[in-house]
Amino acid sequence: MNVFVITGASDGIGAEVARQLAAKHGAQAGLVLSGRSQDKLDAVAAQCTQHQAQVLAIAMDVGVEAQCRDLVARAMERFGRIDALVNNAGVSAQALFEEVRAEDLGWYESLMRTNFWGALWCTHAALPHLKASGGRIVAVNSLAGLVGVPGRTAYSASKFAMDGFFETLGAELKGSGVSVTSAYPGVVATGIRLRGYNARGEAAGKSGLKEEGAMSVEECARLILSGMERRERRVVMTAKGKLGRWMKLLAPSLVESMALAALKQEVRPH
Ligand SMILES: NC(=O)c1ccc[n+]([C@@H]2O[C@H](COP(=O)([O-])OP(=O)(O)OC[C@H]3O[C@@H](n4cnc5c(N)ncnc54)[C@H](OP(=O)(O)O)[C@@H]3O)[C@@H](O)[C@H]2O)c1
Repeated sequence: MNVFVITGASDGIGAEVARQLAAKHGAQAGLVLSGRSQDKLDAVAAQCTQHQAQVLAIAMDVGVEAQCRDLVARAMERFGRIDALVNNAGVSAQALFEEVRAEDLGWYESLMRTNFWGALWCTHAALPHLKASGGRIVAVNSLAGLVGVPGRTAYSASKFAMDGFFETLGAELKGSGVSVTSAYPGVVATGIRLRGYNARGEAAGKSGLKEEGAMSVEECARLILSGMERRERRVVMTAKGKLGRWMKLLAPSLVESMALAALKQEVRPH
């Protein structure tokens, strides 16, 4: 049996990762799906059980350490092993920093707990079990974790933090049998930007990015899983993402212009 723990599996990329793992491994897949919405998790679980996968759906908040530890404990209780942890849960935000009022800054902290601390807590709890299985850790990052995107100080900060953490962890775990794969999607066709915070910390309800040409969740999940299987360190998606990473060293202002061009006109800084 191959046991996969996936955070943020109730929707978007995480749900598709779960479906593709179920389709590939069938009855040999043990899937631990987590997210806050039990209803949505149950719907994804039903899709996975159609492939005979064994599924445990756990409603939890990755922004709470005890719930991250409980997720891993329940996965072990049910399946007795963990082969991969996919740290995918995340929230987005679109707000120019100077437009955020002091009394609203708390959502920066909430976003950091979800995107960074949640991944750290789940990884810390799962690591002994992953060492026992020679397993895999996946961090679903973002191109915004490699290049600062205007209007995304909170999101980019959380993803840069993830990048530093998982790059270092990968170096620490070299030779341990446990691999660490960071994946950097560009714009993927999910509702994340509608659900993300606006300057007031409310759900934005609209996207600040140009959505045309967005990658499908199917392709994104496929790239994440092939990187995980091959134990690649980095899966940088899109040609612009690959180019931007190197251009940043040579011509940073050009990369800033590329990042700005991804934004809709109305959310650009004046
Ligand atoms: N879509 C893109 O364009 C894109 C680009 C680059 C990187 N990414 C990254 O890819 C990952 C998945 O994004 P997505 O586009 O699939 O987003 P999504 O469709 O909004 O799904 C996000 C998932 O995370 C879960 N989640 C959010 N907050 C949570 C919390 N506090 N505790 C537990 N689960 C939580 C959500 O479930 P509940 O609401 O049920 O809790 C949902 O299952 C994120 O890390 C995101 O930053 C996305």
